Amino acid sequence: MTGGNRENWGLNAPRDKSLEHWEAEQEVIGPGLQAVMLWSTMCVETAEGAVLTDLDGNRVLDFQGAGGVNSIGHANPHFVSALSAQVAVSPAGAFGSHARREMAQAVRDFLPEPLDRIQLYSGGTEAVEAALRLAKSVTGKYEFLSFWGGFHGKSLGSLALTAGARAGLGPLPSGHFSAPYANCYRCPLKLKPDSCGLACVDQAREVIKQNSTGALAALVVEPVQGRSGNVVPPPGYLQALGEVAKEFDALLIVDEMMTGFGRTGAAFAFQHDGVVPDIVTVGKGMGGGYPVTGVISTAQHMSARPFSDPSASSSSFGAFPMACRAVATVIDVLVEENLVDHTEQLGAELLEALRPLVDEAPLVGDVRGIGLAIGIELVSDKTTREPVSGEVLRETFLALLKAGVLVMTGGNTLRLYPPLNIGRDQALEAVEIIRRTLIGGVA
Ligand SMILES: Cc1ncc(COP(=O)(O)O)c(C=O)c1O
Repeated sequence: MTGGNRENWGLNAPRDKSLEHWEAEQEVIGPGLQAVMLWSTMCVETAEGAVLTDLDGNRVLDFQGAGGVNSIGHANPHFVSALSAQVAVSPAGAFGSHARREMAQAVRDFLPEPLDRIQLYSGGTEAVEAALRLAKSVTGKYEFLSFWGGFHGKSLGSLALTAGARAGLGPLPSGHFSAPYANCYRCPLKLKPDSCGLACVDQAREVIKQNSTGALAALVVEPVQGRSGNVVPPPGYLQALGEVAKEFDALLIVDEMMTGFGRTGAAFAFQHDGVVPDIVTVGKGMGGGYPVTGVISTAQHMSARPFSDPSASSSSFGAFPMACRAVATVIDVLVEENLVDHTEQLGAELLEALRPLVDEAPLVGDVRGIGLAIGIELVSDKTTREPVSGEVLRETFLALLKAGVLVMTGGNTLRLYPPLNIGRDQALEAVEIIRRTLIGGVA
């Protein structure tokens, strides 16, 4: 695991080289890159574990982790040697290969029953689209229910599942409805989690009744809403949604793009709720930085047509040897280093250390999370829970970066995704910097 001596973290040296470099790139790169990357203007010379060193020699702790992609640490030695060896013998093409066989074996051992099949893709939104095609193939139906605040991608089908963020992008496919998510800090039904009886699930049922033409193929849900700020639903929520799916003879698709492969302290986040989804979408941390994503299901579901027809569920880069080697190596490291348990324990400790910020820091309204997916929601008024402005969010992000911790954001929330193999000392050092910065107040 990556350890850590106390260091002089932060943007202490003048950033002349980085800024010149950033400007040169921007002369060609199109606009619309990830907001936190644009705010940070970070240009990386080297990366190791949880540490990024910029072109000017500044060192920061990377708790942005490419939104959960950096699962086993930057430049993990196992990953470097496995992928370096693989590239020398890898043809372009989804051939049978030692890498693919080892990936298949590793995935089979890692998946909870009855899930036993995976199809690989190279982008998250592409895997979500494939999951929709699979659900249509299995059910012969074509409507989908998704949830407010959810994020599933930016291509047409996945965008239709992504409530909000659609302005100017219509028309979207018909037959997509959305219902409130169990976001208990901001309950859309203005209820309290200890007494609501999961009223939002009843609401989902009602949305289907009011909108469906009887052709509901699937409910599509994130087990923890990442982009909405690592919103963790209460126990029983996913299970109750599974029941709703059954009532309408529809499937349950759980989008584990951000949460899968150990991030929440379980192999998959749905396991916290004892539910068995029909289809699971995965990516990000599964490839440890290599662009590989996937759709997981059962042999029975995956045999449905047209999904199972030759070429009907393939993609140009799916299951190339490099992608397979990346997945096999990540799973090896997760298992060999017992990282799922480490994530559960360390995540609980970090959460406990951060929770007092709700009382101590002027802008912190809520601290929540599970495993090493933590959200710190910023508000300008703790009573009304008015979200901070985009400007205050940006200033807070920059203050943290200057102090030595790069974080992710989502809405008005700071999101933390350190590598799952970060050492305890280094993680606590980052927490100390975050606490100091937020308690000091930045706006
Ligand atoms: C839950 C979830 N689904 C799908 C996606 C889309 O993945 P990609 O950005 O690789 O297309 C994301 C990306 O953040 C995600 O968090």
